Amino acid sequence: MGLQKLAEKYGPVMTVYFGTTPAVVLSEPEVFKEAMISKGTATAGRPLTPTTRIALHNGADIAFGDYGANWRKMRKAVVTDLLHKSEFMKRSSIMMTEVMRAKNAIKVQCSSNGGKACLSPRRYLRSTTINVIYSIVFGRTIEPGNPESDPELHELDQAFQELFETIGLGAIEDFMPLLHILPTPHMTRIRSVTNTRDRILMKFIHERRERRSTGAPGSNNLLDVLLERQEERGMSQKDLLFIVNDLVSAGTDTSGTTLEWLLLLMADNPASQDTVQVELDEIFGDEVPSTIDADKLPVLHAAIMEAMRIKAVGPLLVPHQTRQDLTLGGYHIPANTPIHINNMAMAMSPKYWDRPEEFRLERFLEEEKHLKLRNVDGGLDAEAYKFVPFGAGPRHCPGREMAVFEMTMIAAHLLHAFRWAPADGHVNLEEKFGLTLEPMMSHQKLRCSLRH
Ligand code: HEM
Repeated sequence: MGLQKLAEKYGPVMTVYFGTTPAVVLSEPEVFKEAMISKGTATAGRPLTPTTRIALHNGADIAFGDYGANWRKMRKAVVTDLLHKSEFMKRSSIMMTEVMRAKNAIKVQCSSNGGKACLSPRRYLRSTTINVIYSIVFGRTIEPGNPESDPELHELDQAFQELFETIGLGAIEDFMPLLHILPTPHMTRIRSVTNTRDRILMKFIHERRERRSTGAPGSNNLLDVLLERQEERGMSQKDLLFIVNDLVSAGTDTSGTTLEWLLLLMADNPASQDTVQVELDEIFGDEVPSTIDADKLPVLHAAIMEAMRIKAVGPLLVPHQTRQDLTLGGYHIPANTPIHINNMAMAMSPKYWDRPEEFRLERFLEEEKHLKLRNVDGGLDAEAYKFVPFGAGPRHCPGREMAVFEMTMIAAHLLHAFRWAPADGHVNLEEKFGLTLEPMMSHQKLRCSLRH
């Protein structure tokens, strides 16, 4: 039975067993608010499985780190050096360069085919979101749509993807105590992929350190900035490795997959695509500028929000864990219990949304226009927490503002320059569960034609 159906049957707080491990699943905005806001510090832990213990060195990163001093120090560093609006806006020209490279690569495909091409948007969107992070962090990129163009980055990307997928889906060893101590093929593989990722990231860190020690002119790369401030912040080599790890693993597939869903949904809803394109044409004319203010594009913004609601890339967000005994929704929950947020059930519940299965721009333009992509703090009515794609409370996504800016920029360019349509009369919107909710049909193609 799907989690949505389970929520309907068993209510807002239910216990489920993943193997022998009990966990609590929260499925309603009121109890979500109670857990993440009113009792936010008591639920701010993260559960570690045998797989994440290996891949993340016992939670040495931000996303799976224990809610304590080291987590706070690392989270503060990424917000200060990159994710704060004033910081990522300083690097908006890097983002713009990557968006233009992707747009030009698609234009070349179309131009050599009489203005139309049949292509997999995922190839271009993934390479763009990867390039944005890689160029900001290390100053290196791959060719748009061609992940094999830099073998070292490709090897790193393969390692990230494999780790991300395994962490998302979990493995039998994660649910069967004892099994994980055995050298099963899965545990051996996870160790090997973790070593590959660590080796390549460490090499990048050493290269930047060497460059700095020779007095070579500094650069705007995030890694240089982190190295410069490493000592004053009391950061270890491992801290740097895991900051970089989290920026790549949390900041690429999430935005790339959201944008893929957006283009699939636009192709499936031509009238909504018309409305978005009318807005883009009215505001920008023939050329989209380098900096875009999402607030000035309410229709595009509503389309992105609706894509994030109907195809939530984080169907269960990221798991939390109780740090002490507490009550939620009137139920006693012991310390160290994993908590999963049934984000998908909240975003698709007919109890909270009118015709939730339908993609409708009017939803966020009219009846739900009070809802914003920033429902991360307290002070809102409980009902507002039915839409929380970035989580809420002390562990909410620190990359939210940058993600919204980046996605708006990429979507504005790709929807202004091209018309997107099904490749063979039908868009497949089936979903595949993992740490992110992806389209089931991997590399589904769309027909893309030049608009100008
Ligand atoms: C569409 C894009 C994105 C979505 C939907 C998303 C969603 C999320 C969610 C649901 C969480 C967990 C929140 C919680 O536990 O309450 C999270 C955590 C996190 N995200 Fe994002 N995210 C996105 C983009 C980004 C970007 C671009 C970055 C950075 C470059 C980023 C960095 C992080 C980090 C470091 C965490 C861990 C925070 C912590 O545990 O303290 N995310 N994200």
